[in-house]
Amino acid sequence: MVSLALDSLGATDSARPNRLAADVIPAAWDEAARRGAGTVRFENVSKTYRSAGGEVRALDDVSLDVPSGAIFGIIGRSGAGKSTLLRTVNRLEEPTSGRVLVDGEPIEALRTVGLVALRRRIGMIFQHFNLLSAKTVRQNVALPLKVAGIRPAEIARRVDEVLRLVGLEGKADTYPSRLSGGQKQRVGVARALVSDPEILLCDEATSALDPETTLSILGLLRDINRRLGLTIILITHEMSVIREVCTDVLVLEAGRVAESGPVWRVFGAPEHPATRALLAPLTRDVPDELAQRLLPHPVPGAQAVLRITYSGRSAPDLSALVAATGGTVRLLQAGVERIQGHAVGRMLIAAEGTEAEARLRAIGETVEGIGYVAADD
Ligand SMILES: Nc1ncnc2c1ncn2[C@@H]1O[C@H](COP(=O)(O)OP(=O)(O)O)[C@@H](O)[C@H]1O
Ligand SMILES: [Mg+2]
Repeated sequence: MVSLALDSLGATDSARPNRLAADVIPAAWDEAARRGAGTVRFENVSKTYRSAGGEVRALDDVSLDVPSGAIFGIIGRSGAGKSTLLRTVNRLEEPTSGRVLVDGEPIEALRTVGLVALRRRIGMIFQHFNLLSAKTVRQNVALPLKVAGIRPAEIARRVDEVLRLVGLEGKADTYPSRLSGGQKQRVGVARALVSDPEILLCDEATSALDPETTLSILGLLRDINRRLGLTIILITHEMSVIREVCTDVLVLEAGRVAESGPVWRVFGAPEHPATRALLAPLTRDVPDELAQRLLPHPVPGAQAVLRITYSGRSAPDLSALVAATGGTVRLLQAGVERIQGHAVGRMLIAAEGTEAEARLRAIGETVEGIGYVAADD
């Protein structure tokens, strides 16, 4: 546990900044740091784990770009390869084939010194925080800088700064056991930020937290993303987390890219069955009670039940709906949200007449007739 944390923070025994030779650290990184970059490119990344029990193909030809400044979400079923993919970014895992580029530089050739430099540019936070229980908040946060041989005065300055940033200025001398889960994760975030990284990797960082604390940590991540221009790559099984903070999302299924794109597009019009399955809890579909009463054909006095899907247009225009359906329309169920300024969701309406569906389509709605109900139902 501890060695993993240290490793991911770029803290290896032989690392001292004065040993960083210019020839082993890509020149592009200096420039990238000035530009505040933080891009990641996966090129045909595959990973096969081999053990006595056999082979597991955890990643299968993943190609993908994470843009600078994104809050990039990764979702997928358990075992889909999310953690493996995330861990190739700081080389906690090595791809079996393909390559990963950080700010345009392939990272597979980096040796000790270059690898330490890479890991200093990439912070990581974990589900179970990985704090050292015998050390205070200040000591935990200071650790990466201490290992890197930074002067004590500079360490103190940086630690105070990041503790203020995460809202823990009063807790510097407290031990982790005295902190709540949310406070512990704030320490995790502070420790990840203390080396001034460009990229922050989060593996299920809010999964151990209650909903309210989750929201506060998400707020913190969003704040950091805006204020520091940091690229954040975040794994979660909570779709609401993606909807709340992410700009882009990747859906992994059995090690492959099922789909990816801006959250509003992927969530508004999920194309892959894996995405649909993951989003099912968020999708308001026809309630059972209504489904049982749906008639397949119109009968006298029945209304058509129509499903209108919003997947990224401007806000639904209700007056246009009413006008197009000829004035008699009932709202049966609706769940339309705004994601990144786009209307996303669906509405179930009951409308008079057999023409309603065609008329709604004519005004540009994405509409689907799903049956009929009695008008007074
Ligand atoms: N160190 C390992 N050795 C062998 N198999 C592994 C190892 N790490 C992960 N796996 C397997 O690789 C697959 C992907 O795992 P992982 O990336 O952890 O998925 P996720 O994070 O999406 O749940 C799973 O089948 C998992 O059992
Ligand atoms: Mg995982």
